[in-house]
Amino acid sequence: MTLPVPVPESGAAAFADWSARGCVAVEQALSALLPPADRAPARLHEAMRYAVLGGGKRVRPLLVYAAGELTGAPAGALDAAACALECIHAYSLVHDDLPCMDDDVLRRGKPTVHVAYGEATAMLVGDALQALAFESLAGTLGWGVPAPAVVEMTLTLARASGSIGMAGGQAIDLESVGARLSREALEDMHRRKTGALLGAAVRLGAACGRAPDAGTLHWLAQYERAIGLAFQVVDDILDVTGDAASLGKTAGKDAEQGKPTYVSVLGLDASRQLADTLLAQARESVAALGSPARRLGEIAELIVLRQS
Ligand code: IPE
Ligand code: IPE
Ligand code: MG
Ligand code: MG
Ligand code: MG
Repeated sequence: MTLPVPVPESGAAAFADWSARGCVAVEQALSALLPPADRAPARLHEAMRYAVLGGGKRVRPLLVYAAGELTGAPAGALDAAACALECIHAYSLVHDDLPCMDDDVLRRGKPTVHVAYGEATAMLVGDALQALAFESLAGTLGWGVPAPAVVEMTLTLARASGSIGMAGGQAIDLESVGARLSREALEDMHRRKTGALLGAAVRLGAACGRAPDAGTLHWLAQYERAIGLAFQVVDDILDVTGDAASLGKTAGKDAEQGKPTYVSVLGLDASRQLADTLLAQARESVAALGSPARRLGEIAELIVLRQS
């Protein structure tokens, strides 16, 4: 992301400005990456654009940009990596909402993709977005990221997305409906289905720049583990305490569908305490990483304190 005008570096207004510019940057990059809605097969391309553009908090792209600040990564490479993460994430949401999964009709304040375009198109939107993610990631090579780093990033994204990461976590989620999970099993599921992609966002952003030293890698690993789990703990809390108007998706689904969540296993208060503990771990990492990690710190606060 480029900085066209100097802005104050710290404070809520500076972060709001920084994140707004990150959201604009990734929106423009995604719009350029996605095939035009009138290119054949037009219905599929229109549905892909519907699934990806004009919505979402863009937390994963913001993590890419923030981690890239730590390693002086070029803006074009960060845009390409941010698009890759958001394409995988949007695909995971389209499939998560299908009738055979969570059966949701509302996402990002709009009818879900299968409601708007039909189930078969929604499946294909997910398939095509997954492929497009890796196409975008390969584009980091053109921005000066060395080929071995691009291969490493490809492995990171593939593992975070596949059966040991997000897709595997989703499989455990479906198998666990109506079951009582231990706290350890719940944490494992959440780390896979949600934490893996958030962690990949941090690692890909950093990998677009200078190779981080061992100390940086250590604190980044603690940071990504903390925010990766915190994100889904807060998602579980908001499913109980939020409403459709603020969430842009149906509230109360987890209890209705018998999903094991942090709220069902630990209760609301202990879930909030856990989110605070994880935020403290993220803050400790950010303090150790110093001022270049400022935006990572602000994103951790956003993840835990958000209302949507
Ligand atoms: C929702 O993710 C699904 C989970 C992994 C919990 P987000 O809360 O990031 O959804 P958007 O991108 O803002 O719509
Ligand atoms: C979804 O978890 C995680 C992924 C999409 C991989 P949820 O099913 O809790 O997400 P929401 O609440 O529908 O956004
Ligand atoms: Mg789900
Ligand atoms: Mg869901
Ligand atoms: Mg949820």
